[in-house]
Amino acid sequence: MNTQPKHVAIIMDGNGRWAQKLGKKRVVGHSRGAKTVREIVEEAVRHQIEYLTLFAFSKENWNRPKDEVNILMKLLVSSLKKEFRRLTENNIKLCAVGDLNTLPELVKEELLFVIEKTKNNSGMVLTLALNYGGKEEIVAAVKAISIKVKNSIISPEKVDESTINEHLYTRNLPPVDLLIRTSGEERISNFLLWHIAYAELYFTKTLWPDFTKEDLQKALLNYGKRERRFGKTSEQLTF
Ligand code: FPP
Repeated sequence: MNTQPKHVAIIMDGNGRWAQKLGKKRVVGHSRGAKTVREIVEEAVRHQIEYLTLFAFSKENWNRPKDEVNILMKLLVSSLKKEFRRLTENNIKLCAVGDLNTLPELVKEELLFVIEKTKNNSGMVLTLALNYGGKEEIVAAVKAISIKVKNSIISPEKVDESTINEHLYTRNLPPVDLLIRTSGEERISNFLLWHIAYAELYFTKTLWPDFTKEDLQKALLNYGKRERRFGKTSEQLTF
């Protein structure tokens, strides 16, 4: 059976519904969701998870009402400012994946500042997927490789899995071992398509603002009971 997952990825879903259930505005849910992020990051460190990747804002999220998008962006900036010290105390290295160039200037500035300041930390790698879309990431990689093929930097016969991997936003991340999605929805929503090829999927009905460290422990325990065969048979794994 498995031990600890090296790379855990989370689709933090259900902020809006959490707030609506309490008769509050959706943004109240995002704000409570940011608090959950802090608790779960610290719990992941305690479990010695090496890589934690959080889906913070998808390419498709731009289609939400303008006010909600603005508040999410403000929340990101304030969380980065607030959490910077705690990231350092926990020896966490912050990274980001996605189309970062088109993020609002203020978000980009704060993000790049924290990434730079934490780049030599040697503990958990915390990656925020921001303005991220899995299909778009693959398209960008194919484009970059095509240009290299056209300019004879890469020969077409040499293109293999590692060539594609090296051109993804997520090139520095190992494959995802455990993908968690909260809120009862059971889909991938264009998250880390390449890296989840053999991920174990864990769905819970708990809404993200209610997701606790005990819930993370439960997901990790459940992962520990899974048999990961990577295409082989059970017998091959035993002998
Ligand atoms: C999904 O809930 C959540 C998001 C689109 C954003 C996630 C953002 C946070 C948890 C807050 C800040 C993040 C960081 C990294 C500090 P939803 O709005 O889709 O919920 P719903 O499905 O109930 O509507």
